[in-house]
Amino acid sequence: TQPNLLVIGSLNMDIVVQTARYPLVGETITGENVHFIPGGKGANQAIAAARLGAETAMIGAVGQDAFGENLLHSLEKEGVDVSGIKQVAGVATGVASIYIAEGDNSIVVVPGANNRLEFADIDRNEALLRQADIVLLQLEIPEETVLYAASKAKIFGKTVVLNPAPAKPIPDELFQLADYITPNRTELGRYTGMETDGSSLGFAMQRMKEIGEAHIVTTLGSAGSAYIADDGSIQTIPGHKVPVVDTTGAGDCYNAGLAISIATGRSLEEAVNFASLVSALAVTKFGAQAGMPTIAEVRAFEAERNKTGAD
Ligand code: RIB
Ligand code: NA
Repeated sequence: TQPNLLVIGSLNMDIVVQTARYPLVGETITGENVHFIPGGKGANQAIAAARLGAETAMIGAVGQDAFGENLLHSLEKEGVDVSGIKQVAGVATGVASIYIAEGDNSIVVVPGANNRLEFADIDRNEALLRQADIVLLQLEIPEETVLYAASKAKIFGKTVVLNPAPAKPIPDELFQLADYITPNRTELGRYTGMETDGSSLGFAMQRMKEIGEAHIVTTLGSAGSAYIADDGSIQTIPGHKVPVVDTTGAGDCYNAGLAISIATGRSLEEAVNFASLVSALAVTKFGAQAGMPTIAEVRAFEAERNKTGAD
């Protein structure tokens, strides 16, 4: 049977501009093209999970505007239960302004309606929480709401995965409510106040584990990911070598893959391997949600890797 996943988080319209280089301050340059692509860490994780075969529902907020309609529609199209997403009057749907240049990206997020997600929205959608096997949270909605949702999920005995992105000052209590915490390297540095390069990485991860009393998984971009095994050792899973088209949403895909695997009773090692595989596929395609792989694509990729013995 399919795992039942609940994502509580953000929806943004990504306005993606591709340009040869970043503009300097005060400078105007000509870009190559612009795309309007559904995004937002919450919605990206929900779409990724649905494509990977999970029964997926989402609690979130959009404005009563064209972007909001579009975002709801893209989730519905993938079979995500959107009954927990409210449309708020008088506020704009979240927007992420993204530049892709010089093989990298830079993002400015304007939360808009995402900031209107309140305790009452969690309470109203309690049925979604009750039916979930696992709850996946990020930090693009108000921190108090994330904390409230996490406490409520724990009351119902649910497994909670906290993707603490983007990095924000949050209370240790939130980390403690999580069963799994998945910062990237930058976020890990921010939350622990420690170095995360080379051999420092493991110490920072151990510190994160002390703060959160949780399983720790750190994503490392093209270098793969790392987790703390049951014996306390740091295990690193190298990234798969793939042609990189767009890394936007790769972390979201990783989190969705990890959460689903855990929900189906896989070991952390298996879950991390699965997450690593699915997120590698996500970077080979353009766009956050547009680039999320289906389970069929993942199985084909896996079979090909095994055949050729590629990394
Ligand atoms: O994680 C990627 C997402 O972060 C983008 O889709 C953008 O909306 C930003 O919120
Ligand atoms: Na992508």
